[in-house]
Amino acid sequence: MASLIGDPIERELVTLHERLKHDYRGETSASIPTLEHADHRLFGLAVCTPDGYVSAAGDADVEFSVQSISKAFTYALALSDRGLESVHEHVGAEPSGEAFSAISLEEETGRPDNPMINAGALVTCALVSGADAHEKYERIHALMEACAGRSLGFDETVYEEEQGASDRNRALAHFMRSAGSLTDEVDPTMEVYLKQCSVLVSTRDLAVMGATLATGGVNPLTGDRVFSGTVARHVLTVMATCGMYDYSGEWLLTVGTPAKSGVSGGLITASPGQFGMGLFSPKLDARGNSVRAVAASQDLADRYELHAL
Ligand code: DON
Repeated sequence: MASLIGDPIERELVTLHERLKHDYRGETSASIPTLEHADHRLFGLAVCTPDGYVSAAGDADVEFSVQSISKAFTYALALSDRGLESVHEHVGAEPSGEAFSAISLEEETGRPDNPMINAGALVTCALVSGADAHEKYERIHALMEACAGRSLGFDETVYEEEQGASDRNRALAHFMRSAGSLTDEVDPTMEVYLKQCSVLVSTRDLAVMGATLATGGVNPLTGDRVFSGTVARHVLTVMATCGMYDYSGEWLLTVGTPAKSGVSGGLITASPGQFGMGLFSPKLDARGNSVRAVAASQDLADRYELHAL
């Protein structure tokens, strides 16, 4: 069996892109107009090695809103700011086995099951240090930039549309506020959460961000340490068990690497010490994961034994 690292990775990605190019199964997210009307033909693949070599195929430089993939990086920042014990008091680390927007809260404490579902991400947004919503969001944006190794834009239209479609998340936030698990006011928390979802990334960025997790917190392009090895390990662990929502178990069985998906069709995955990978294709399956990103990951996992376990 060949090893993915050290091989002509780009040729592999181009071949895979060709093979799945006309697979249009699934539906774009109907949550906001920008995502619903996204060009469903877009399909990008990229891999970044721990020494910073990036290989890419297809639409790897097209930008899209990062959506729920931001949750992994906000969790990294909350852990860096407060430490695992303090964060764990407010948000658990158990797979919910439910949809990403589910009200998966512990009955007595109102503590959300994990930081990769919406409820948990709202709590981690509130746990990030900062005087107000603006400062908290700026710190999350800066962390994602440090992981990508370049400046990242912000999609104002997506943010406005997200604000207009936020009833369920807002209700979740109010519920957690009343239960005591959300430590901040609802409005600033919503602002941080919806802004972090509206940051623009490319598939290539996701590969580098994944590689930053895979190296234990050092961006392989810039050489900058973004967070500690311990934080990287905690984030990858929770991605492994909870990053693909109610598909997390099957994902671990068939691909076997920590991952996080988002409703724009992006997917980030990383294998400690091995690689970071970004994938993007807007059509989603019923659980909200990108159909082609999952199919491409499974293909590569089978052929190159990517499984970290
Ligand atoms: O919470 C929301 O509605 C979105 N802005 C983010 C959702 C998301 O990406 C969940 N993932 N599949």
